[in-house]
Amino acid sequence: METLDTVTDALIEEYCEEHSSEEGDLLYRLYRETYLHGVKPRMISGQLQGRFLSMVSRMLRPTNILEIGTFTGYSALCLAEGLAPDGQLHTIEVDEELEEIILRYVEQSSYKDSIHLHIGDARQLISRFDCKWDLVFIDAEKRGCREFYELVLPQMKKGGVMLIDNMLWSGKVVDSEGKPDLDTQAIMEFNDFVQQDERVDNVLLPLRDGIMMVMVKA
Ligand SMILES: C[S@@+](CC[C@H](N)C(=O)[O-])C[C@H]1O[C@@H](n2cnc3c(N)ncnc32)[C@H](O)[C@@H]1O
Repeated sequence: METLDTVTDALIEEYCEEHSSEEGDLLYRLYRETYLHGVKPRMISGQLQGRFLSMVSRMLRPTNILEIGTFTGYSALCLAEGLAPDGQLHTIEVDEELEEIILRYVEQSSYKDSIHLHIGDARQLISRFDCKWDLVFIDAEKRGCREFYELVLPQMKKGGVMLIDNMLWSGKVVDSEGKPDLDTQAIMEFNDFVQQDERVDNVLLPLRDGIMMVMVKA
């Protein structure tokens, strides 16, 4: 199977996966189907990152979760594992061709009444929500990160957590050879921006392709 260029050594990655909880049958089937039939399957979170998302969510017990970039629904299903009993997860995906697979797997899960899929561009949809988010996962086009961040931050609760994926971009953020491509440039600027943003505390985790973890200050 094709895999993502993670920033950690492949053997370390494998070792971490072997020493992390299993994802369960539904997520395993979704992962396999994404790889067997999907375009760009390496975009899926997978077991290690998925278990991390699930654990963060279960620690926070969020009432409102927002995800930007559903893809086939894997990360949404992981995040939903921590929802408070009356909690809701809203996930936005621009590619309408993914709707069928997302809904088919959500329907088979215990969270089918708590996960709400919105098809469209997050730039247009974010402002329509009237929620105060406890947990946000941004995993869409990398050049849009700053815009998504600014749109979502005012909608977050104090102490709320935002996770932004791929912030090490296969290590290209520290590659000093040549001019960085546009995605790399956008990610580097975004990381620099978050680092000096006094509204939040932040940790850039070298998990898989890099997750920027942000907490809104009280
Ligand atoms: C990396 S994949 C998401 C992977 C998924 N979160 C997971 O972990 O399995 C990125 C997704 O974001 C979607 N996307 C890109 N730009 C978007 C936008 N402006 N609004 C909503 N979705 C977007 C893409 O179509 C793609 O399915």
